[in-house]
Amino acid sequence: MVMKSHKFSCTSHLIVLCCFLLQPLFVCSKNHGNAANDILDMINNNRTSQKLPKLSSSRGLGCLALQYAQECKGNCSSNNTIHCQLLEDDFTEVFSPNCGVELPTFGTISGLILGCHQKYLQPHEAFPNVLVQDQKSLSLLRNKTVTEAGVGIIGSHKHKGPYIWCVLFSNSPTKSTFVLEDLGEGVEQKRGCYSGASLPCSAGESNSGLVLNTLIHLLIIYSSSLFW
Ligand SMILES: *[C@@H]1O[C@H](CO)[C@@H](O)[C@H](O)[C@H]1NC(C)=O
Ligand SMILES: *[C@@H]1O[C@H](CO)[C@@H](O)[C@H](O)[C@H]1NC(C)=O
Ligand SMILES: *[C@@H]1O[C@H](CO)[C@@H](O)[C@H](O)[C@H]1NC(C)=O
Ligand SMILES: *[C@@H]1O[C@H](CO)[C@@H](O)[C@H](O)[C@H]1NC(C)=O
Repeated sequence: MVMKSHKFSCTSHLIVLCCFLLQPLFVCSKNHGNAANDILDMINNNRTSQKLPKLSSSRGLGCLALQYAQECKGNCSSNNTIHCQLLEDDFTEVFSPNCGVELPTFGTISGLILGCHQKYLQPHEAFPNVLVQDQKSLSLLRNKTVTEAGVGIIGSHKHKGPYIWCVLFSNSPTKSTFVLEDLGEGVEQKRGCYSGASLPCSAGESNSGLVLNTLIHLLIIYSSSLFW
């Protein structure tokens, strides 16, 4: 009897220890949501506070925003300003095929916000400090006629800054524009993250967070099968 209870308490100690050690990883993996979706939520909260309708999340526009950010990777200055003027034709000739946007469904891009920072900023910091710093960008996101938006985020170097944020707005009818081929799947993006995608992303990087998450869950299942 004594032996048994001793064994039990030892096991539970191990579990507590195990959970304790893994806790920071869990907290981290919780933050590996899709930062681009979070930015879009903030844009919509800002609009609804002004009694404006929410913008639809367009996965196609999100991917195009990521492409735009990627093209501007080399143009973030040390004071966190960015000047990057791309050709309008790039959208239909380069970005759309890269994303798998069906060309006949390409709508009107009515606004663009581009920003950068040497360090990765969480969405709640990036929104006021990178994306909405002046009246011009605020009136873009509060424009009454805008219907949908997409957000893209990417780091210039693997797991390193500077980071580029791009928001694209459209006033075209939602659902029928910027449609991705393969029943909305489009072309898989190797780097960065964009809104409308179901994949999580961390610091605008790849899916390492997802892999880590899966490994942790497997470890938990394995260790609990040992202990219980
Ligand atoms: C930031 O740097 C760019 C290029 O290096 C320069 O043109 C610009 O004036 C600087 N802006 C500020 C606010 O210092
Ligand atoms: C990036 O910055 C350089 C140097 O300021 C400039 O010459 C170039 O046109 C910029 N690229 C784009 C796409 O705007
Ligand atoms: C809103 O966007 C439309 C279409 O892009 C533009 O014509 C209009 O001037 C904008 N309105 C404001 C208040 O910025
Ligand atoms: C909307 O964004 C602007 C600019 O960042 C900010 O000043 C304002 O407080 C925001 N409003 C809400 C309700 O988030």
